[in-house]
Amino acid sequence: MVKHLIDFNDISVERWEKIHKLAVDIKNNPEKYAEECKGKILATLFYEPSTRTMLSFQTAMLRLGGSVIGFDNPSNSSVSKGENLKDTIAIVSSYVDLLVMRHPLEGAAMAASMFSSKPVINAGDGGHLHPTQTLTDLTTIMLEKGKLTGLNIGFCGDLKNGRTVHSLLKAFLRYKGNKFYFISTKKLNIPDYLLEKLKETDNEFVFAETLEECMGDIDVLYMTRIQRERFDSEKEYLKQKGVFILDTEKMEKAKKDLIVLHPLPKVDEIDIEVDDDPRAKYFEQAENGVYVRMALIMTLLSENNEELSYNFSEKRECSNPKCITQTERYLKTVVDEDDREFCKYCNHKLI
Ligand code: CP
Repeated sequence: MVKHLIDFNDISVERWEKIHKLAVDIKNNPEKYAEECKGKILATLFYEPSTRTMLSFQTAMLRLGGSVIGFDNPSNSSVSKGENLKDTIAIVSSYVDLLVMRHPLEGAAMAASMFSSKPVINAGDGGHLHPTQTLTDLTTIMLEKGKLTGLNIGFCGDLKNGRTVHSLLKAFLRYKGNKFYFISTKKLNIPDYLLEKLKETDNEFVFAETLEECMGDIDVLYMTRIQRERFDSEKEYLKQKGVFILDTEKMEKAKKDLIVLHPLPKVDEIDIEVDDDPRAKYFEQAENGVYVRMALIMTLLSENNEELSYNFSEKRECSNPKCITQTERYLKTVVDEDDREFCKYCNHKLI
């Protein structure tokens, strides 16, 4: 059992199944769990904006009878005075029982976990990963489809910068017999490191340039927002905005039992009329986020978790300009134990 949740795949399939079952029981019997975390404190440290992730974590802890501290804007904390991540995490972890952190830099959650005396949950690290969204997505798919295999799954929109897509696809690589449709522009397609991992499995995948060409085949359509905040310029963002829009006309071409998911927030990629289609499940998906986060908090607080060890390297550096190691310069390079060419913080190539 690892102590932190940085990458969804830190959780074994069996452990995920337990969390999922607990989340479903909490959804059906919330009163049973009202005092599970009495006396415990959760810190929510959000260096980037959030509605769902931050508020659902706070709701989850309060519904379990615990308390919450934190900041939703680093400019209201001593980060604005230049305090580094290491010191912030070391101090806050001495105050609380569990930390949830969102940060704009890739690999920041792993870096935080190295300096924390308490479990750290990654609530999104730049364009890298968002494992608790994956918990939410998988539970919603299980509740709607009853399985995680034999599905045609379409990912549409900003597949390059969409951390929810990266986390969910990585989770699906542990299952067999799914077919993936990557519906995106060439510029915003799925990162190579994930395609390489996908090729090692027996799951099929295709690329599509329009929603229309695959709408009739898909069982689960995962729409995403074009991630404006990850572009180098507004001009580049505007070139990509509005290319994929799901509307009622396209929904007519879809299967009767399609489900449409979206991590939210949505901007203009789903026409507002689609909200009324019973196949649109994104609001239920967001609600499920509270139950899975309650189950996760209970799990991490109740287990005897082990500390991790790291493969440090003095000689190598990460090639990713958005990696946390480029900003927090005291961080030592950590080599991925499965593939020594890659950075453990952000999964990009080492140089
Ligand atoms: N899905 C998600 O991460 O939403 P927020 O950015 O509102 O937390």
